[in-house]
Amino acid sequence: MRPARALIDLQALRHNYQLAREVTGAKALAVIKADAYGHGAVRCAQALEGEADGFAVACIEEALELRAAGIRAPVLLLEGFFEADELALIVEHDFWCVVHSLWQLEAIEQASVAKPLNIWLKLDSGMHRVGLHPDDYQNAYQRLLASGKVAKIVLMSHFARADELDSAASARQVEVFEAAREGLSAQISLRNSPAVLGWPNIPSDWVRPGIMLYGATPFEQQQALAARLQPVMSLESKVICVRELPAGEPVGYGAQFIAPRPMRIGVVAMGYADGYPRQAPTGTPVLVAGQRSQLLGRVSMDMLCIDLTDVPQAGLGSPVELWGKHILASDVAAAAGTIPYQIFCNLRRVPRLYSGS
Ligand SMILES: Cc1ncc(COP(=O)(O)O)c(C=O)c1O
Repeated sequence: MRPARALIDLQALRHNYQLAREVTGAKALAVIKADAYGHGAVRCAQALEGEADGFAVACIEEALELRAAGIRAPVLLLEGFFEADELALIVEHDFWCVVHSLWQLEAIEQASVAKPLNIWLKLDSGMHRVGLHPDDYQNAYQRLLASGKVAKIVLMSHFARADELDSAASARQVEVFEAAREGLSAQISLRNSPAVLGWPNIPSDWVRPGIMLYGATPFEQQQALAARLQPVMSLESKVICVRELPAGEPVGYGAQFIAPRPMRIGVVAMGYADGYPRQAPTGTPVLVAGQRSQLLGRVSMDMLCIDLTDVPQAGLGSPVELWGKHILASDVAAAAGTIPYQIFCNLRRVPRLYSGS
């Protein structure tokens, strides 16, 4: 059997969730959209269901998958509905629903709903992606109340730059939010992972941690609370071939790496078809036989090459960690010019093996 696999540590997932609650003292919706950032939404939801205040997903398809697996906890649709006819299912399955646009508000006003909805009214406080304009916010709130179709409203917004700890942008977004919600007595939800970890003074009755649940830091620099996260996914494989190369010989497609000295090369069963980033350059860290080493040359579809020259204990069959508890996914992502969110979401083909449930 091909040795490439992703080990998912559900105990670490629970640790990270509890950290979000502990440092904020708030209720926390575990953001498990995009198949729990590649970690498997159903398994992650099952592992958290005993303690999570609820879950957040991107769309009704993801929410229905959770209900079909028997998850009864609250599930928030972060983008609400895409078409008004989803409202019947939203009511049937008790999903919580973001309203980010006036067309959604109008659709609710016009719908006949069997039970009142639980709405998270989203303000565009400066990110300028989705969310109501501040000038429309109070009116939208009153219209929702007046519609008679709403049981509860939570006021929410989303940060564009909370991962930049020296930026004033998040504080400005909070000011816009505070002005827009003046006089409304409703619970609020602002903080994503970087705001949970890095912005202790931003209020939130509900926090919405995503990437931190999976144990990856949202920050480029070291950060004290992020250092307490436990990586959840270990992407592992083995050395399937070893070769000795004389100085001057190339490695892999495009001869992107030329051995500067006699070298010992290990070929690992892992490639971009598994989600390992093709952009990762020579020098990207890996762990082989318990020792840090580096990627050499271009990543191919099913294989990649690593340096065994100074790892004498490594050989055919040696275990390799591409990212996990020793090699941080955020470091691999940075080397590849991307973010851990993307390398997790790109995971495919490798079996996911769970522990700690
Ligand atoms: C509205 C909203 N809240 C929370 C999150 C979680 O963000 P993070 O993974 O940075 O914690 C996301 C993710 O994109 C989001 O869109």
